[in-house]
Amino acid sequence: MDQASTKKPSAVLSPQRPLTVEKARAGERIAASRHSTQLVYSYVAFSAFWLVVGTLAGQYLGLKFVWPEIDSLSWLSFGRLRPVHTNVVFWGFASLGMIALALYVVPRTSRRELYSYKLGWVSLWLMNGSVVLGTLLLMAGINNGGQEYREFIWPAMGLFALGLMVSAYNLYKTIARRDVREIYISNWYILAAFLWTIVLAAIAYLPGYQDDGISQTVVQGYYMHQGVGMWFTPMVLGLTYYFLPKLLNKPIYSYSLGVLAFWTQMLFYTMIGAHHFVFSPIPWWLQTVAIVFSVGMLVPVTAGTGNFLLTMRGSWGTIARSYSLPFILTGVIFYALVSYQGTLEAFRSLNKIWHFTNFTVAHSHLSMYGFVSFLIWGGVYGLIPRLTGKEPPQFSVGVHFWLALVGLLLYGVALMIGGTMQGLSWIAGEAFIESVNLMIPYWVWRAIGGTMMFMSHLIFAYNVWKMRPDRLKETEAYNI
Ligand code: HEM
Ligand code: HEM
Repeated sequence: MDQASTKKPSAVLSPQRPLTVEKARAGERIAASRHSTQLVYSYVAFSAFWLVVGTLAGQYLGLKFVWPEIDSLSWLSFGRLRPVHTNVVFWGFASLGMIALALYVVPRTSRRELYSYKLGWVSLWLMNGSVVLGTLLLMAGINNGGQEYREFIWPAMGLFALGLMVSAYNLYKTIARRDVREIYISNWYILAAFLWTIVLAAIAYLPGYQDDGISQTVVQGYYMHQGVGMWFTPMVLGLTYYFLPKLLNKPIYSYSLGVLAFWTQMLFYTMIGAHHFVFSPIPWWLQTVAIVFSVGMLVPVTAGTGNFLLTMRGSWGTIARSYSLPFILTGVIFYALVSYQGTLEAFRSLNKIWHFTNFTVAHSHLSMYGFVSFLIWGGVYGLIPRLTGKEPPQFSVGVHFWLALVGLLLYGVALMIGGTMQGLSWIAGEAFIESVNLMIPYWVWRAIGGTMMFMSHLIFAYNVWKMRPDRLKETEAYNI
């Protein structure tokens, strides 16, 4: 054998392993009706808008950790802007993004048109109204008290709940009138998510049984984790059960694993809320149940991520050549990592160190951003070009991906290290100011990572604009 043929290609860069792979164009054009395209696109456009608004607030909050005296306006104070950030990204960005995709996936897998486009629009305006009203009220200092993610006062949240009910009814009717026998697994997840969240909004806001601190704490733990666990998680998982096999052009590895993950998710996730209040004055047994069920979460998470990864096996080339699938791969990996991380956080021995520290903030972003947001972006890039026939510039999709991923890693790793040191400093009994001082470099890194993430959102908004439907062509071409 001559020397040249035994020479291995560079591990990093070679003709076989180029730095960038040219992405395949989304040649396929879906025959969707003009109504469907406009409705889905409008949800996506508002979702992108709220992402920019919500993370502008997040970005500014991150800067406040580095320059606490940056302003002295009450409307921009930390206590008011923090819930603006969380509620806008939850109810504006992530919720509208997920519903946009569901409004396509549910009719598609039911082989039916959406039951009512009018109801689709009504729900969009109710939800937008809720986010506008809730945000203005929060900035003016009018809120529901210090209850995380339910800081909107009830009339503002009521609009959102109404929007949810309208969408749930619309999607339920579409599934009920389906033209296939089975209900595809995506629709199990999507319908369940809507039903759980409507119940959850009622539990969180109904008066009369949470008037004392302890009951409020128990309900708060339940609400917080059901919010992430029974709204965002099942929605994006359900959507991934559609987009992943569709974009890879092969069936999901195992339907049964999907069903197993679904039921074990219903069983375990509903019981883990109290792990947010380990060592608090709520009953010890309730905390223990939550910790045990947090371990139980290993089952749906392993079944779900295993199913997705096994579906991807052998298709790595397709993923590299796609501009939507890398987002989905990243989202699936983060789903596994953050959930295993969450199980560890629930153990008393580790919760003792991490609770109240910035470690939790790292976990929140690795999950809501690395898992939920990446899966939404993957779905948007996978679907919208095929609906509108307009592709975003490949370069700017790549910049979106890398700025978001690298920014998130800087954000998450800095706060995981800093948060652990914070906790250890408190356990060592050092003066509180010591833990503030030691966090300074980590907050700087969070601000740098956050800036990259924010820039990626501006690019996402630009890409969404580039994918906008062309009115004239559409009215001519599609009539379903
Ligand atoms: C499935 C396995 C998971 C487990 C066992 C778990 C566990 C935990 C624990 C123990 C905490 C509380 C930390 C503390 O305050 O001391 C926490 C916080 C949090 N988790 Fe998870 N987690 C999981 C998955 C997820 C996922 C998938 C998401 C997002 C979709 C998520 C979002 C959050 C958020 C936002 C918080 C912060 C709540 C707050 O504001 O205090 N988690 N998680
Ligand atoms: C530019 C990107 C972002 C930046 C710079 C950012 C920054 C921040 C900051 C500074 C906080 C307050 C942390 C504290 O009180 O110590 C926060 C909280 C939070 N953010 Fe973000 N954020 C970003 C994007 C997002 C996105 C897209 C989501 C959800 C989809 C999200 C969800 C949350 C949640 C759930 C919390 C509460 C964390 C907790 O209590 O554990 N963030 N964010």
